[in-house]
Amino acid sequence: MTDFQIRPVAPHADSTALSAIYSGYVRETWVSFEVEPPTPTDMESRIHAILDRNLPYLVAEDASGTVIGYAYASPYRPRTAYQFSVENSIYLAPEAQGKGIAKALLDAVVLRCQALDMKTMIAIVGLDPDIPTDHNQSVRFHRKYGFQFVGVLDNIGQKFGRWTGTAVLLLNLQEDEKEGP
Ligand SMILES: CC(C)(COP(=O)(O)OP(=O)(O)OC[C@H]1O[C@@H](n2cnc3c(N)ncnc32)[C@H](O)[C@@H]1OP(=O)(O)O)[C@@H](O)C(=O)NCCC(=O)NCCS
Repeated sequence: MTDFQIRPVAPHADSTALSAIYSGYVRETWVSFEVEPPTPTDMESRIHAILDRNLPYLVAEDASGTVIGYAYASPYRPRTAYQFSVENSIYLAPEAQGKGIAKALLDAVVLRCQALDMKTMIAIVGLDPDIPTDHNQSVRFHRKYGFQFVGVLDNIGQKFGRWTGTAVLLLNLQEDEKEGP
């Protein structure tokens, strides 16, 4: 059992560690549709953009205080009717995977989004075209967590010189309301 704790992000102090974790996925995988890894300074301003919206941004650190993963919620789309929908993002250092740390991070982000009265969380997963969608690590993780698999947006992005898609998964954050009195 890995000893870890979850805490709020420290925008400046954590920016280098978060940029290092994320940059590996940007450079080597389809899971992020970015191509140029963000610098620590870019990361810091992105963190502030989330915190300025009062949305959660959390990190996991191991017993020695090394940051081993992070998760946050961002606005899904800017138009007003989307104001109760958030997109989640979660990234672990490779050596931190398979230990329940991602679930713990997502639990904490979900709880905070529920407290903010957010209604729907959406996960948008960049797909590796060589791996069947059902085998994708992030699709499996979100499904197991309770997200409903909505579908795949085929050929929505191009990376490493190839077309690929994104999987879309949804989590209902609130009990469904009754229709009218
Ligand atoms: C997707 C990702 C966040 C999921 O992380 P993960 O390590 O699989 O998820 P968890 O930390 O919750 O670990 C769960 C696994 O650890 C195992 N595990 C081991 N010890 C555990 C413990 N003490 N508690 C809970 N689970 C434990 C579980 O059995 C489970 O494995 P299974 O799914 O094969 O049954 C991670 O793979 C990742 O960072 N991927 C790259 C980036 C990415 O795809 N991000 C998502 C973008 S949308």
